[in-house]
Amino acid sequence: MTVIVTGGAGFIGSNFIFYMLKKYPDYRIVCLDKLTYAGNLSTLEPVMNQPNFRFVRLDICDREGVYRLFEEEKPDIIVNFAAESHVDRSIENPDIFLKTNILGTGVLMDACRKYGIRRYHQVSTDEVYGDLPLDRPDLFFTEETPIHTSSPYSSSKAGADLLALAYHRTYGLPVTVSRCSNNYGPYHFPEKLIPLMIANALQDKPLPVYGEGLNVRDWLYVEDHCKALDLIIHSGREGEVYNIGGHNEMRNIDIVKLICKELGKPESLITHVADRKGHDMRYAIDPTKISNELGWTPETKFADGIKKTIRWYLDNRSWWETIINGEYRDYYERMYANR
Ligand code: NAD
Ligand code: DAU
Repeated sequence: MTVIVTGGAGFIGSNFIFYMLKKYPDYRIVCLDKLTYAGNLSTLEPVMNQPNFRFVRLDICDREGVYRLFEEEKPDIIVNFAAESHVDRSIENPDIFLKTNILGTGVLMDACRKYGIRRYHQVSTDEVYGDLPLDRPDLFFTEETPIHTSSPYSSSKAGADLLALAYHRTYGLPVTVSRCSNNYGPYHFPEKLIPLMIANALQDKPLPVYGEGLNVRDWLYVEDHCKALDLIIHSGREGEVYNIGGHNEMRNIDIVKLICKELGKPESLITHVADRKGHDMRYAIDPTKISNELGWTPETKFADGIKKTIRWYLDNRSWWETIINGEYRDYYERMYANR
C-alpha cells in the first residue's frame, strides 16, 4: 500500500506520518509538501532515511509535478493535509488560502481521477460549520449542520470539502471527508494558541489573549485525530463526512491560565488584546457517527495531553526557537505590534 500524505511537514501531517510508519511498517509513505513557512523539514528528520519513506518538495497546485508523482508512485491512498491553516493569516491575506486550499485540492483530485485511486481523504475542519452560541451548551455540530463559514480560511476549507464531495458524486471518486476540532500536541506551529502561549510563557513574554478570552474550542490530542483518520481511510464509507472531536470544550482564558500554572509563570503575563475579526465564539463536535460506525473514541484526556504537550515543548526548545528566530518573527511583529 502506498499512501501520499500531503502537508506532512506540518503539525498534524507529521504526527500522522509517524503514526502510520509505526503502525504499518509494510506501507510506503510519501510526503508531498511545499515547505511553506509552516512546513518544517527538521520535524521529519527521524524518518527521513527510512526505506519506506520518501519526501518530495512540491506544491499541490503544481499540476505537472503532482501528475509526475502519481505516475512514479502509483499511490493507493491520498490523505490531503496540505493547506494554509491559520485563521489570522487568512484575514490578513485570503488569496493564498483560495489557491492552496481550493485549487490545490482540485489538482490532487484530478490526479486521482486520471491515475485511479482507492481512497482520497480530505482533512477538513469543524470551522466549516461556523460557530455556536455560548448560551446553548446543548447544541453541537453534526455532519448535517449547514455549512456557514466565518473566515476566508474556513470558507476555503468548505470550498474544498464541497469540491471533494462533488468529485465523488459526479465522477464516482472514492472520497471521504473528516471535520475535526482543534488539535494540540507536539510539532504544533508556535503561531497557534497553545504553542504560542507555552513559548511566550517560557520566555516571560506577554500572553496575548484576544478579547476577553471567553471563546470556546473543543480540544483533541493530535494522536487521537491520527487514529480517527486511520479508521476512516481504511473503513470509512465513500462519499461520507465524519466529524472528529472529543467533547472537550475549554475557554481560551482557562487554557492560558492552566499553561501559566503548569509552567509556574504569573498570570500577570496575560495581556488582553484586540479581538480577531469575525471571531467564532464556540466550536463543539458531536462525534456520534464516527463512534458508532468505526468505534472511534478519544483516548487522551486533556489534563494528560496538555502536560505531555508542555513537556514536549520544554524538551524540544530548539525546534520552536528556530522557528521563532526566523521568518516567523516578521509575521509576529505585523500581527501584534499595533494590537
Ligand atoms: P500546518 O499549517 O501546521 O501544516 C500545513 C502543511 O501544509 C505545511 O507543512 C505546509 O508546508 C504544507 N503546505 C501548505 N501549502 C502547501 C501547498 N500549496 N502544497 C503543498 N504543501 C503545502 O497545518 P495543520 O495544523 O497541521 O493542519 C493540517 C490540516 O488539518 C489542514 O488542512 C487544516 O485545515 C486541518 N485541520 C487542522 C486542525 C488544527 O487544529 N490544527 C483541526 C482540524 C483540521
Ligand atoms: O477548529 C479547528 C481549527 O482550529 C483548524 O481548522 C485551524 O487550522 C486551527 O488553526 C484552529 O483554528 P483556531 O482559530 O481555533 O485556532 P487558534 O490557535 O488560532 O486560536 C484558538 C483560539 O485562541 C481562538 O479563539 C483565537 C484565540 N487566540 C489565538 C491566538 C493565536 C488568542 O486568544 N490569542 C492568540 O494569540
